[in-house]
Amino acid sequence: MSISHDGASRTSNNDLLNWVDEVADMCQPDSITWCDGSQEEYDRLCRELVDAGVYTRLNPELRPNSFLARSHPSDVARVENRTFMCHEKEEDAGPTNNWMAPAKMKAELKASFKGCMRGRTMYVIPFSMGPIGSPIAHIGIEITDSAYVVTNQRIMTRMDQKVLDTLGKDGTFIKCLHSVGAPLAPGEKDVPWPCEADIDKKYISHFPETREIWSYGSGYGGNALLGKKCLALRIASNMAREEGWLAEHMLILGLESPSGEKTYVAGAFPSACGKTNLAMIIPPEEMGNWKALTVGDDIAWIKPASDGTLRAINPENGFFGVAPGTSYKTNPMAMDSMKENCIFTNVALTDEGDVWWEGMGPPPAHAIDWKGENWTPDMDHPAAHPNSRFTAPAGQCPTIDPAWEDPEGVPISAFLFGGRLSKTFPLVYEALSWNHGVFLAASMGSEATAAAIGVSGIRRDPFAMLPFAGYNMGDYWQHWLDIAKIEGLKLPEIFRVNWFRKDENGNFIWPGFGQNMRVLQWVVERVQGQASGQTSPFGIVPGYEDINWKGLDFPQEKFTLLTEISRAEGLAETGDLATYFARFGDHLPLKIEEERKALEERLNKGPELWRAGSA
Ligand code: GTP
Ligand code: SPV
Ligand code: MN
Repeated sequence: MSISHDGASRTSNNDLLNWVDEVADMCQPDSITWCDGSQEEYDRLCRELVDAGVYTRLNPELRPNSFLARSHPSDVARVENRTFMCHEKEEDAGPTNNWMAPAKMKAELKASFKGCMRGRTMYVIPFSMGPIGSPIAHIGIEITDSAYVVTNQRIMTRMDQKVLDTLGKDGTFIKCLHSVGAPLAPGEKDVPWPCEADIDKKYISHFPETREIWSYGSGYGGNALLGKKCLALRIASNMAREEGWLAEHMLILGLESPSGEKTYVAGAFPSACGKTNLAMIIPPEEMGNWKALTVGDDIAWIKPASDGTLRAINPENGFFGVAPGTSYKTNPMAMDSMKENCIFTNVALTDEGDVWWEGMGPPPAHAIDWKGENWTPDMDHPAAHPNSRFTAPAGQCPTIDPAWEDPEGVPISAFLFGGRLSKTFPLVYEALSWNHGVFLAASMGSEATAAAIGVSGIRRDPFAMLPFAGYNMGDYWQHWLDIAKIEGLKLPEIFRVNWFRKDENGNFIWPGFGQNMRVLQWVVERVQGQASGQTSPFGIVPGYEDINWKGLDFPQEKFTLLTEISRAEGLAETGDLATYFARFGDHLPLKIEEERKALEERLNKGPELWRAGSA
């Protein structure tokens, strides 16, 4: 017998109503709640989570209307080895994605989902990625048995009854099914963070052909907040390929020059490599009157517009940022964004009832760590988990751009690509052409992150999309090359940046953070045709005198170390890339291999150690 619910009073969309009934029949929840995204609903759910011991209400004087959650120690990051792209054809998933045939995956999932919500409430969450009703936005419906997910989704997406109204009778939506995978037997007491602790029983599965997501067993971040990586990147990249746009793991930043001219840039950096920092950068005052405004910190949907620009929107409504390392020194705007109305996951709790994490400031004499245990600074383990996160409403960011919710998006003039690379790669260099730029992005690499299990050292992370490109990575590069063929489109310039080069003692050479604005000024001036640069084998590198050094004592010798290119290291890179690219077989675009060969040739013809000369 079907479980009763009041869905018919909320929507006339039969596809949705049927799907909810189908899922309920399979998952057997105790009850079904349709969410409306209201403040009352949010407050009620948070209260219930506090009563259940899932949330700790933070001191309302220090952190109004904010909560702390602690996850199960086995459930602390995305699980890339249990993430699947279930295309009909394996070839369409490509060598960088896990694949299983959709029918086989569905059969396995149905066995897992059968009865998985027993003893729990099933929530139906209508949400919009992008401003509700915007022509660029897309609607998702997430079904979940986690109230933690509901409350986080209310911050991260536009969750509203209006979404259902906009969906109407016949509108289409992306089906996002989620369960923590922990049914309760009658009378069984719940735990604060239910999940499937056995990693081999977790599934983050995507069905691009039918635009569905089935996620089982994890309650954390991108595994569970399905609008983010699953919808806005993995499913959306497939939609973007079909429809001629781009769904990218990028921050969006508006830069206003002292003369008042606004230039928007979008930047792809792998997870935990500084997107949130850069998205909220504060230009050093001494540089002159530069302003930076935030549009988004993680995801960009970018579409060609009729005026010949590429326009970007941030499909999200909040920040799900890495907490450790965030402080008033490194990212004051992030700190200000999380003053109130936030959810913190896996950070430490102070005796005053506030949050703390490594890098925030001096440690408290005593705290409760992310595992819920007593912690003192003399202990040899951190108080906050390295991948602990804050969930904060984007609208609370003091530097949020006035156009951040513009349904038409903002025009992008430059793309930045950067990873964590301790040697070989200059602080910044500009691509020689669009195709060269696509090559630079395709060959990007970085150190492993919390989500990459079993990977050590540097891994290739093309476009910072390795865990997020929803189809064959080779075809994805071809899609980027094809963007250049769109008639009348003014292509943005492409840059590689690297804040992470180290000296022989292992120290970062570049001060980074706010000082990155000096690099951004050069980028903006290159785009405007106002700055010069020097042609190196890698691309166009600024000379020392091309950078605005006002207010920063940064000697030319250090800058030389940051920008020099060793032929031997460069050739090691092109050799490594040859092996890497070979993995893509027939799907490797010819143009990408041509760019690799051209780089090899430039290195061979160039000096043993290339250094920018004085202009
Ligand atoms: P996801 O949310 O996982 O996609 O990551 P993100 O790219 O938004 O990462 P985030 O901004 O949270 O990255 C934070 C890490 O980058 C911290 O360890 C920072 O200290 C470091 N970081 C950010 N900017 C700089 C910089 O300019 N220089 C150096 N050395 N480190 C930086
Ligand atoms: C990332 O890993 O790139 C994130 C965090 O932004 S999560 O939402 O968990 O994927
Ligand atoms: Mn991210």
